[in-house]
Amino acid sequence: MGMNVKKTAPIGVFDSGVGGLTVAREIMRNLPNEDIVYFGDTARVPYGSKSKDNIIRYSKQIIHFLQTKGVKAIVIACNTASALALDAVKDEFDIPIIGVVEPGARAALAVTETKKIGVIGTEATVRSAMYEKIIQEIEPDVSVVAKACPLFVPLVEEGFKKHHVTDEIIDYYLSSFKETDIDALILGCTHYPLLRSKIREYVGEKITLVNPAYETAMDLKLILEEQDMENPDVEGDHGSYSFYVSDAADKFKQFANSILPYDIETTKQINIEEY
Ligand code: DGL
Repeated sequence: MGMNVKKTAPIGVFDSGVGGLTVAREIMRNLPNEDIVYFGDTARVPYGSKSKDNIIRYSKQIIHFLQTKGVKAIVIACNTASALALDAVKDEFDIPIIGVVEPGARAALAVTETKKIGVIGTEATVRSAMYEKIIQEIEPDVSVVAKACPLFVPLVEEGFKKHHVTDEIIDYYLSSFKETDIDALILGCTHYPLLRSKIREYVGEKITLVNPAYETAMDLKLILEEQDMENPDVEGDHGSYSFYVSDAADKFKQFANSILPYDIETTKQINIEEY
């Protein structure tokens, strides 16, 4: 922890776009005293189909931007950026940077009895095999079945959460899990918790759905407690939240207001290539 970072400083949270709001939402619910500066890279989304080099470059630019806001810790709310860029960025900065993959992996390990875990995510996340890597580092005898579900992201963004087309696509992607005996399924992409009830209906009660967003908020809480960096001051009943994007601020705001517990007033657009 940098010596000059204050307890009252905000938490930086970033994602390729709107999806990371599912992580911001868990931080708001579970760490209500903390201020949040959120950045959504709406100009360059999706990350799920990009190369590792670009995802690292984007992540570094965003961390530089968040540092201009004086953040005391950073949460990489995007599974793809956590899987591909966390290792490359975490030692380069002097504040804690946490991703969503490790908390998700640990939560799945805590519930599995069959020692078989399913993971769904973007193409880049699945290709990186980062969930498998972390799971098997902790427990080598646990096996992992991973599947990319690229159509889930646009379905959520287009508001198809309850549409019958979504049922068919869920069947298309998840039917192969029925032949395995996984008992935990990691929702390894920011958007997937928003499809949770339909996925739950499809896979049934025997499979525990693991939401890395919640686990990440819990990890953040622990890190702030350990480092004695929790925000002691709060005005009103929650921290203050600001939102930045690299494109289309209005569309972002609309989506944010449909999923966050508090309405957001303004979203500022910045040129992320300058950082
Ligand atoms: N935020 C991304 C993730 O969690 C999904 C959207 C994208 O591909 O950028 O992997």
